Amino acid sequence: MSSLDNKVSFQINGRQVRWEGDPVRALADVLREDLELTGTKIGCRTGECGACTVLIDGQPVNSCLIPAAAAADAEIETIEHLQDQPVFQRLVEAMAQTGGVQCGFCTPGIMVTLWAWLQDRTLFGGDVTSALKNNLCRCTGYRSIISAVEQVVEAEVSGR
Ligand code: FES
Ligand code: FES
Repeated sequence: MSSLDNKVSFQINGRQVRWEGDPVRALADVLREDLELTGTKIGCRTGECGACTVLIDGQPVNSCLIPAAAAADAEIETIEHLQDQPVFQRLVEAMAQTGGVQCGFCTPGIMVTLWAWLQDRTLFGGDVTSALKNNLCRCTGYRSIISAVEQVVEAEVSGR
């Protein structure tokens, strides 16, 4: 694809999408404003907060830093796509139990990151704390979030 091409095809949440627009527009804006996938949040726009985390080909990335054209032909998943997954549901329940959510602004990005890590524990060197280093939470603190992940892992190990 030419860098000036303003038509971009990608798969979003299992659906093939042909999008037309400014190729350097942030993917986060395309998702929220054009495709109405507002579960992805925008905090800093500088790659610091992780609120805009989505999966691109299974890897968590900051969608505020990705020009739409750079996602051409990729498979993109937003938090809207994860909610029917059993592991994701277990994570939601565990977060509620541990109090891993307060204002909730960081939560979609954190949930996408944690879900990716639960799918592939080799990500981030296998360490969930490292997995969260790109997601800032100003109000909950990380202990309750990590406890929630530990609950999901323990339930998996014990077959519950
Ligand atoms: S909005 Fe993308 S990292 Fe903060
Ligand atoms: S719950 Fe408020 S920023 Fe994380």
